[in-house]
Amino acid sequence: MVTGANRGIGLEIVKQLSRGGMLAVLCSRDVEKGKQAASKLASEGLEPPVVALDVTDDASVANAVAEVMHLFGRIDVLVNNAAIQREGMTAEQASVLDVAPELALEVFNANTLGPLRLTKAVVPIMRQGGYGRIVNISSGAGQLAEMAAGFPSYRMSKAALNALTKVTAAELGPSPIKVNAMCPGWVRTDMGGPDATRSVEQGAETAIWLATLPDTGPTGGFFRDKTPIPW
Ligand SMILES: NC(=O)c1ccc[n+]([C@@H]2O[C@H](COP(=O)([O-])OP(=O)(O)OC[C@H]3O[C@@H](n4cnc5c(N)ncnc54)[C@H](OP(=O)(O)O)[C@@H]3O)[C@@H](O)[C@H]2O)c1
Repeated sequence: MVTGANRGIGLEIVKQLSRGGMLAVLCSRDVEKGKQAASKLASEGLEPPVVALDVTDDASVANAVAEVMHLFGRIDVLVNNAAIQREGMTAEQASVLDVAPELALEVFNANTLGPLRLTKAVVPIMRQGGYGRIVNISSGAGQLAEMAAGFPSYRMSKAALNALTKVTAAELGPSPIKVNAMCPGWVRTDMGGPDATRSVEQGAETAIWLATLPDTGPTGGFFRDKTPIPW
């Protein structure tokens, strides 16, 4: 299951996982947008199933997971990709001193609690299947080691997503379920904008690696370009 997969990095992750032979489910909060996105892959012979999923809605998460289980009977990989970013990139545009708590809560609800909702829903299924890969698409913007000013709500939500990654990996321990976070770099999408330095292919690369890790692969890590980076 790849969340927020109707455009940007999420769509690219579905495309690459499908090319690799995985049955990747394209989750989209607007199912019509999801179907339109899936149709763009048809020329390659790829037909990812589309499932409605709004990560901020408990019922939607439950319904999406139930639908995937009904259709396919298992969930091996979860990519928590869906996120929002609603603030300016500099302190002048978006000072932490001006953050409206309502906005911070909205961003936290999507970027942090969305992945928490999905993790809670799929880990029992992965435990039963004896296999799991959870990939949390985080951001260098959430790195405490390099924390700076600008888009404060987004930064806080991604730092908290990194905490969720470590807490989940610690709780699962050396189980067959691996939980990792990654930063795609600055990627040309609606969120990253046209001046970003990376293509969606480059942005998705580390997520694909983490989604298909061998049993000897890492858990509880934070990566960019398949290389560990400081939290
Ligand atoms: N682009 C970058 O430079 C960059 C850098 C670092 C990290 N990231 C991270 O990479 C991931 C993908 O970013 P992107 O650049 O591809 O962003 P994007 O182009 O803005 O796409 C975001 C996706 O998330 C979906 N989404 C938002 N809220 C949702 C919700 N409540 N439920 C379900 N889906 C929801 C959007 O769906 P709708 O179409 O319905 O809105 C869209 O499909 C995000 O986690 C982002 O934080 C991106």
